[in-house]
Amino acid sequence: MELEAAKERIKTLRKEIEYHNHQYYDLDTSSIADNEYDALMRELVHLEGEFPDLLTPDSPSQRIGGVPSEGFEKVRHDTPMLSLANAYNLEDLREFDKRIRGIVGNSVHYVCELKIDGLAVSLKYQDGLLIRGATRGDGEVGEDITSNIRTIRNVPLKLNEGVSIEARGEAYMPRQSFERLNRVREEQGQDLFANPRNAAAGSLRQLDPKIAAERGLAVFVYSLADMGWYSVDSHSEALDWMSSLGLSVNKERGEFDNIDDVMAYIESWSEKRHDLPYATDGMVIKVNQLAQQQELGFTVKSPRWAIAYKYAAEQAETTLNEIRLSIGRTGAVTPTAYFDAVQLAGTTVSRASLHNEDIIHERDIRVGDRIVVQKAGDIIPEVVRSLPEYRSGEEEPFRMPDECPTCGEPIQRLPDEAVWRCVNPRCPSLIQEGLIHFVSRDAMNIDGLGEQWILQLLHHDLVRDAADLYHLTHEQLLGLERMGEKSAGNLVEAIAASKNNSLEKLLFGLGIRLVGAKAAKTLAASFQTLDALQQASLEELTSIRDIGPKMAESIVKYFANSGAQKLVQRLRIAGLNMEYLGGADGAVTADGAAVDSEVLRRFVERKFVLTGSLEFIDRKKASEWIEQLGGTTTGSVSKNTDVLVAGEKAGSKLSKAKKLIENGDKPTLEIWNEQEFIQNLQAAGIDTGH
Ligand code: IVH
Repeated sequence: MELEAAKERIKTLRKEIEYHNHQYYDLDTSSIADNEYDALMRELVHLEGEFPDLLTPDSPSQRIGGVPSEGFEKVRHDTPMLSLANAYNLEDLREFDKRIRGIVGNSVHYVCELKIDGLAVSLKYQDGLLIRGATRGDGEVGEDITSNIRTIRNVPLKLNEGVSIEARGEAYMPRQSFERLNRVREEQGQDLFANPRNAAAGSLRQLDPKIAAERGLAVFVYSLADMGWYSVDSHSEALDWMSSLGLSVNKERGEFDNIDDVMAYIESWSEKRHDLPYATDGMVIKVNQLAQQQELGFTVKSPRWAIAYKYAAEQAETTLNEIRLSIGRTGAVTPTAYFDAVQLAGTTVSRASLHNEDIIHERDIRVGDRIVVQKAGDIIPEVVRSLPEYRSGEEEPFRMPDECPTCGEPIQRLPDEAVWRCVNPRCPSLIQEGLIHFVSRDAMNIDGLGEQWILQLLHHDLVRDAADLYHLTHEQLLGLERMGEKSAGNLVEAIAASKNNSLEKLLFGLGIRLVGAKAAKTLAASFQTLDALQQASLEELTSIRDIGPKMAESIVKYFANSGAQKLVQRLRIAGLNMEYLGGADGAVTADGAAVDSEVLRRFVERKFVLTGSLEFIDRKKASEWIEQLGGTTTGSVSKNTDVLVAGEKAGSKLSKAKKLIENGDKPTLEIWNEQEFIQNLQAAGIDTGH
């Protein structure tokens, strides 16, 4: 191919790929078959390989996260990445203010920024193009994590101006991504991340950039490496400039000319920060004028012109009453601590996962102990330690039983795992959790068939596996406690309707180890029928994008099992659809693409509450759209609410929704911010005008 022709083709390919990326990642719809997308990408990579001069770092071929690296290269920072001095109380802040005024005089402006709980990164741009992303490391030498940084969607590959700068900021994992990640890890029987910071750090440390790409990370930039070079006079101007370049700067900040106002601002965020979509652990206070920053200078470790105020860790002492074991869908035996209720980070907490046996022993936690509990990353409650000084001698050290507490069969611990598992496929707990999973929204989505009903059905011996659900009669359902005529009718209908689901829902519902909702979709789209998938070999499976050897092995093993074969056969006889139906079910998006039924389900028959101020859409219009898509809007948050759309400054409704989620009254309640709401509307075919 001629150079000119190659140039044109590369341009077209990039445009097309960016379009499909946007559909897929931002709008959650699929506008192209996977293999066609792969073909476009392959052609682009091939052409860029043939004409290396045409390869630019902002090409979409650079975002997918190429090949895993062997290890990270070391990078020496041109300007060291320093740390901050800490203030733990308001006294420390007064000291800081006094010191500053002692040096630069009385005219000082402070900028207050939320301290984001993630890890510091450096983003280097040359002539407007992202050329390197690095970790802080020891401050002098960090690691080159460019390929991972490129996968972060709010890090521009190209700035709005062709400038050469080094921006610094915090890479973090938004709460929603964090919760989703841990949910998936739990489903797949992997260890959970204790907090969003660990999750963000762990994701950026992955040698395979595809993993980082899936983790939903984000970056807020908060400074320029060497401010002296740019035509800005103050920190706040630098922030505004970076924002105008397309970098993401946190919009929450305050500017004050005295320390009392700074303190009031800190105070005003101490509770409110729990409502933010990302975790924060304090406030950073910076002298605004660069000339004054220069005058103040640095100590070896940190600038004298800034300080980090740390909110006190939310900890409480309480008494551990019981360690209960629960069996998950994968058979994992998880110990949970039950203690006297305490208030932590805005909610009442009375239990915390202890994860596994080793942690209990490491922290020497015994039933009857006084214990210290806290919310890790202000989100997930955990038992920090025991307080042995209060012991009476009656406290009992924990011992993992030899048998499953539900079925009594021996439990197993694999050499490289921390968890014990019940491996009896007929264990009632496994069956129960499996059924709850089977009917859940991302699986067969049988509306109205919640956990309570599953428990009753099992209790009355009306079902023993998923296939039995399809033989339930109206009369049988009416026999359940508190089941009315109408609900029974609706349930029978919902169960019958689920027979027509596309293959991926069933596939996910089967609960094959390591197969999450996304992988189920990939598998369904690749094999089209359950028959074909059942017969797939390891090689065929691993040749598919995103299906790794471990998952492939788990799939083959699942279908080789006679119990699974029987279940699939019984589901087939019950009349379940076992084919991939793709995204086409009649609805189309604003640009004519088919709407995935999955997207419509985010609205159909769901109860919405709108709260806070919506910046980009009119509330009345929003309600109309929800109704148009088959949902309803109500005014107050209750157990009946399915989705809370929380705009800016959402207050009590948001807190109430969070409580309902956290205390288990409505764990499926979803909280969408305005952006997500708009994206879902658009994905469902609404032209919101954005
Ligand atoms: S300014 C010279 N601003 O906190 C150091 N840091 O404890 C400049 N952090 O290493 C740091 N949010 O990783 C700054 N708005 C913010 C921040 C922030 C989080 C982190 C950063 C730093 C650590 C210091």
